[in-house]
Amino acid sequence: MAKDLERLLSDRARLRGTGGVVGGLSRRHDEAIPLHYGYPYPDSYPLEDLSRAAAQSILEDGPEAINYGGAELAEVFEGLVLDRLAVRGIACDSDRVLITSGSSQAINLVCSVFVDIGDKVLVEAPSYMGGLNSFRNFGAEMIPVEGDALGIRTEELGAMLADWRARGETMPKILYSITNFNNPSGCTTCAPRRGELLELAREYGFLILEDDAYGELRFEGEDIPCLGASDEDGSVIHVGSMSKILAPGVRLGWAVATPEIIRRLNVHKADGGTSPLARTVVGGYLQETDLDARLETLREGYRVRRDAALEALEAYMPDGCSWTRPEGGYFVWLTVPAGLDSDDMLEEMAEEGVKPLSGRQFYCDGRGAENFRISYSYPDPEDIRRGIEIMARVIRRRLEG
Ligand SMILES: Cc1ncc(COP(=O)(O)O)c(C=O)c1O
Repeated sequence: MAKDLERLLSDRARLRGTGGVVGGLSRRHDEAIPLHYGYPYPDSYPLEDLSRAAAQSILEDGPEAINYGGAELAEVFEGLVLDRLAVRGIACDSDRVLITSGSSQAINLVCSVFVDIGDKVLVEAPSYMGGLNSFRNFGAEMIPVEGDALGIRTEELGAMLADWRARGETMPKILYSITNFNNPSGCTTCAPRRGELLELAREYGFLILEDDAYGELRFEGEDIPCLGASDEDGSVIHVGSMSKILAPGVRLGWAVATPEIIRRLNVHKADGGTSPLARTVVGGYLQETDLDARLETLREGYRVRRDAALEALEAYMPDGCSWTRPEGGYFVWLTVPAGLDSDDMLEEMAEEGVKPLSGRQFYCDGRGAENFRISYSYPDPEDIRRGIEIMARVIRRRLEG
């Protein structure tokens, strides 16, 4: 007899349903210029160094390299993460850090530990769809907090929280923000707003989940200390990743928080340990690599691509379109005139040879019809230019049509 799955499902799974993400990618048109991938560019993958490190590291550590737990080089990896965090102003011991399977796992663990069905979670709008999907999976009630060119709008946030308090409403548990070079907008939260965010978290008792996947990739302007570096009262859970500075496929990330929070995240991380093989290989690789030099090369690679994207937008986009100007990271956020629908244009764009992402999946409340995320991280500059020219052609046609 067929199983009555509905009866067996968890409340969370029942609530979530089987619907995929909105605005998903078309599987067709594989030859189209990929402005949808949030991947590092192909030349940046250190294939030879990584394979050499793989062979050497596994042999060096012996069977323990691929046992549960891992051996020396797996620990070296954790040590190097701590060193890197210190460079970014987050000086901490290992009891404040948890190595995870990508920062996605860290975000999921935060949900697992803090989010019950119906809990209020504030999310920067727009925000990374993977983060939004984690909150959705746990049944959070997501409430958007608008972002602009200077990052999350703290004044509006403060007014909303004060209003909730005055009306005796329950307070949010978490605020999710991508403070540096937001995915998808490319915008960075400025220093004064960062200070205000920390004050609001203190005042209203919520945690800030700072997602810093792109923080090391500033190619213009001055670094702004991350929230994790300025946190004085345990308000911040800072998550980071190797995905954008090495390769997403190594699936290595981390969470930094108070020792108590880290212990709780670890309890919920019932996965047998973050891949010892990946930690060993990447530990061995990083030991032999000048990471600062690598980061400089990457930043230049992304700066050149960002410039190509901005020049093409300026040259080709019709009047009424506007876009952000990222100082780092992977993304430009395009806004088209009201009345157009980005989802409606995807197929035509793909047929003509370019695949961007539509904006809807980056909002928790169905907005985004007037937006595209243009990822300049992966194609070469000439393809970025051509891709944007094609997008502009389709948009212009819709405007005229
Ligand atoms: C803002 C943001 N956070 C987290 C992730 C997930 O990264 P990871 O590969 O470390 O799980 C991504 C990947 O695109 C991202 O853009």
